[in-house]
Amino acid sequence: MLDQTGFDLWADDYDRSVGVSDEGNTYPFAGYKDVLSRIFQTVLAKPHATVLDIGFGTGTLTAKLYEHGCVIYGQDFSTRMIELAGEKMPGAHLYQGDFAQGLAEPLLHHSYDFIIAIYSLHHLTDDQKVAFLRPLQGCLKENGQILIGDVAFTTRKQLERCREMAGEAWDDEEFYFVFEELQRVFPALSFTQVSHCAGVLTLPR
Ligand SMILES: C[S@@+](CC[C@H](N)C(=O)[O-])C[C@H]1O[C@@H](n2cnc3c(N)ncnc32)[C@H](O)[C@@H]1O
Repeated sequence: MLDQTGFDLWADDYDRSVGVSDEGNTYPFAGYKDVLSRIFQTVLAKPHATVLDIGFGTGTLTAKLYEHGCVIYGQDFSTRMIELAGEKMPGAHLYQGDFAQGLAEPLLHHSYDFIIAIYSLHHLTDDQKVAFLRPLQGCLKENGQILIGDVAFTTRKQLERCREMAGEAWDDEEFYFVFEELQRVFPALSFTQVSHCAGVLTLPR
């Protein structure tokens, strides 16, 4: 699994390598642009939304939301990702911190219309995801939503099928979302499958 230094080194080539995987419709980024577009449309439906992005990377989506008048907060642990995203969004409130340890302290003092996490939370185990998401729901404004776009499947069987198809490309150190398992913990969770390996999970307050 990539650590902070790994993401620092990947940062400058990140957008290109994601594009190659998405355009080839291959695991892990098949459906990436579609995932971004769906989350973009949902957030923009609320004018000037306050958005917290968990693991914002180079700011591919958040910079677009910023340009459309959203108030942007974010947390990432990669120094280089924060530099690249900060150049695109000089007025955003970007904090460094490992989300395995929870939210960075300054982010706890605000509430958000949307908390988005795109291809980031698969770095947490399934138990860690639950422990992270539970308190996050309390950081939402009334009618707020957590929107997770990631490698995700409805069932574990579908995940296993994708693992077989991916062969050596499969990353055993990442923990992908299985909707029907997470929904047992969060009954209000909903899911849209976007490609053979990507989907958007929506969790209300
Ligand atoms: C695959 S990139 C996704 C970036 C972006 N959200 C996107 O849509 O392309 C994962 C991001 O999560 C960050 N990240 C991974 N593990 C993290 C952790 N434990 N704490 C904070 N950030 C983390 C990485 O630095 C990286 O920027």
